[in-house]
Amino acid sequence: MSVTKIAVFASGRGSNFQVVYQRIKDGYIPAEIALLISDNPHAGALAFAAAHDIPCTVIRPKDFATPEMFGEELLHALLAQQIEFIVLAGYLKKIPGNVVQHYANRIVNIHPALLPAFGGRGMYGIRVHEAVFLSGAKISGLTVHLVNDEYDAGPIVLQKAVAIDDCNSPADIARKVLEVEHQALPEAIKLLLEKSYAVEGNRVILGKRSYENQTGID
Ligand code: GRF
Repeated sequence: MSVTKIAVFASGRGSNFQVVYQRIKDGYIPAEIALLISDNPHAGALAFAAAHDIPCTVIRPKDFATPEMFGEELLHALLAQQIEFIVLAGYLKKIPGNVVQHYANRIVNIHPALLPAFGGRGMYGIRVHEAVFLSGAKISGLTVHLVNDEYDAGPIVLQKAVAIDDCNSPADIARKVLEVEHQALPEAIKLLLEKSYAVEGNRVILGKRSYENQTGID
């Protein structure tokens, strides 16, 4: 099995990034993290990357006049490392259209709720869990999906449900969901890198030839 060069994007703590790193190290995911990109110079993810000799860089959208220019800078960094696949692990900024296009169906994001509910612009971090808590839902979960031009709306790769009827706060829900995220994100990445998959409408069809683990699919 060949090893895919991936980039991880993270804005904060980076626990999902760390789990992906560990699961690559133990041989579960056939990949190499060749780049960590953050928009936040204080991200825990950056400190972890630096401590583990993972090339990392900070690229902030506010330093660019347009999303396109931000995207060009991202593409420059990604192509310099020959990145084939991108994992958004707690990344809070919108991926510019030129990057989405270049890496069409080769970018995954993890969202800490069962999409299409509790997603969209402004729905990230604890805000998601607050909305779930206030809704009175008895089940939450996570969604790993491919990234398209809309927030949290790309084709779903994998979902896992988590019972939350014993949770007394949004923070309780966040803790329970995060535990399952740490299993699900490596599982989804492995699935996509090892199997061929096709995207039909908004559906991901695993085992169907279209997007394969190879460089240069556009
Ligand atoms: C996770 O809950 C993830 O689903 C969401 O942001 C959080 C990031 O946590 N997108 P961490 O930085 O991976 O610890």
